[in-house]
Amino acid sequence: MLQEKYAHQLLESERPDQLYKYLFNDLPENKAYYQKSINQTVNAVIDHLETRSTPYSGASVDQIRERFSRLQAEHPEGNSLQIVLEELKELYLNDAISFHNTKYVAHLNCPILIPTLAAEVIISAINTSMDTWDQSAGGTFIELKLIEWTLDKIGYPENADGVFTSGGTQSNMMGLLLARDHFISNNYSIDPGMDGLPAEATKFRIFCSEVSHFSLKKNAALLGLGQNSVVSVAVNDKYQMDTEALEEAIIKEKSLGNIPIAVVGTAGTTDFGSIDPLYAMAAVADQYKIWFHVDAAYGGGLILSDKHKEKLKGIELSDSATIDYHKTFFQPVSSSGFFMRDKSYINYIKYHADYLNSKEQEEEGIPNMVKKSIQTTRRFDALKLWVSLRTMGTQRLGQYIDDIIELAQRTSLMLRNRAKFEVLNHPEISAVVFRYNPLPNTKTDVCALNAYIRKSMFDEGKALIASTKVEGKVYLKFTLLNPVTQLSDMQEIVDHIERHGHNYFIKN
Ligand SMILES: Cc1ncc(COP(=O)(O)O)c(C=O)c1O
Repeated sequence: MLQEKYAHQLLESERPDQLYKYLFNDLPENKAYYQKSINQTVNAVIDHLETRSTPYSGASVDQIRERFSRLQAEHPEGNSLQIVLEELKELYLNDAISFHNTKYVAHLNCPILIPTLAAEVIISAINTSMDTWDQSAGGTFIELKLIEWTLDKIGYPENADGVFTSGGTQSNMMGLLLARDHFISNNYSIDPGMDGLPAEATKFRIFCSEVSHFSLKKNAALLGLGQNSVVSVAVNDKYQMDTEALEEAIIKEKSLGNIPIAVVGTAGTTDFGSIDPLYAMAAVADQYKIWFHVDAAYGGGLILSDKHKEKLKGIELSDSATIDYHKTFFQPVSSSGFFMRDKSYINYIKYHADYLNSKEQEEEGIPNMVKKSIQTTRRFDALKLWVSLRTMGTQRLGQYIDDIIELAQRTSLMLRNRAKFEVLNHPEISAVVFRYNPLPNTKTDVCALNAYIRKSMFDEGKALIASTKVEGKVYLKFTLLNPVTQLSDMQEIVDHIERHGHNYFIKN
């Protein structure tokens, strides 16, 4: 009920039922406004699908910046949602990057499943927070079932556990955090949770391949170990960690007085999709009594495929693992998981807050997920995966994975058959790294040429590809995550690359 003292502040036309119609609740006018708003919004999205045939409009940064320079975020009286949606078209939708487009083959962004969008409607409307039972109820069991399902696919033992996270970066952070605190607890007479780090922590070393994800270094810094604690180990010609080099690196660091605490294997490197020799790495970690984390942010989706899941063998021997559902499970951002082989590891970060998850509640057996997460308030992202698995079935998802891997292999072959291209990898998952080099024995600046191609393709918007550097040289990259994309799409994209490459020579 509107309080008397505020009544004079209302506009003449704004009756209390109008003022409060914006709040999600069970009042008839609010339900009507909710339904109308969602319908209008879905129509705006459909309109976006119908008016955009390319992955990008090609608008320049300056053009888009200019639109915002004349705008204020604040609007005292507000506008109808329809007007705001119209404005949003101009400001954002017309130029949004379309990951669903078959010619989007740039970064690790997948097209998303429609059932996940239905789930998003419920997630945002009901607005469950996953931190405690008294804010989530059945939502907690949905997340727990999916954790159980993923743990089973990984092949972890009975006592394993996990939690949904915001992404691979956060999951990798949890892996390194538990690795650090496990090592401290086992080797020093301090409790890292209470006392912090021992002086020797400056000597802690984490080993990962030279092509592993940057989040490992960033997380090491955030964990107080410094980026220099991360030792990059050489890879073989398939961009997989060289395990002999790993052992040599461990021995060398020990001889320098440093202290190995963890090895990180990558199952699906960001650039190449290469999978480290997880078995051999697990054995090395075991030999040196250090933590073994597997970053399967990209490769985790292989657990869905009967044909390719073998490639992840060895992940079951890890102490912890990262899997990003928003990369290879066709889930919207954000949806990721962190998994550990022994649920007691989580005690390193457990905290009881009297107002939230008291010790008494734990003793009663109330499942409060906050104890497993580094977040407190946490979105019910698990519902998207739940609705996906139960509407589509895992077999279809496995087929999607098989299709993108086959497309990557055929694309790599197609590029190898074109004389003007150099291809660096045979895709284990779905990334192809290559460069355009039509005149190999000339003084052409091949890096400048390929950087030009990537930028002009973005500026044109007809097809989006990525670039990266390998041993200091610029390469182009396809990340194939769309099962609808066909080899003919890839041929067209390669034709665009050749056209822009040709233009480079005309201009230079
Ligand atoms: C191998 C790997 N690990 C971790 C990450 C980080 O994942 P997120 O972007 O979900 O934080 C990425 C992102 O591309 C990745 O490729």
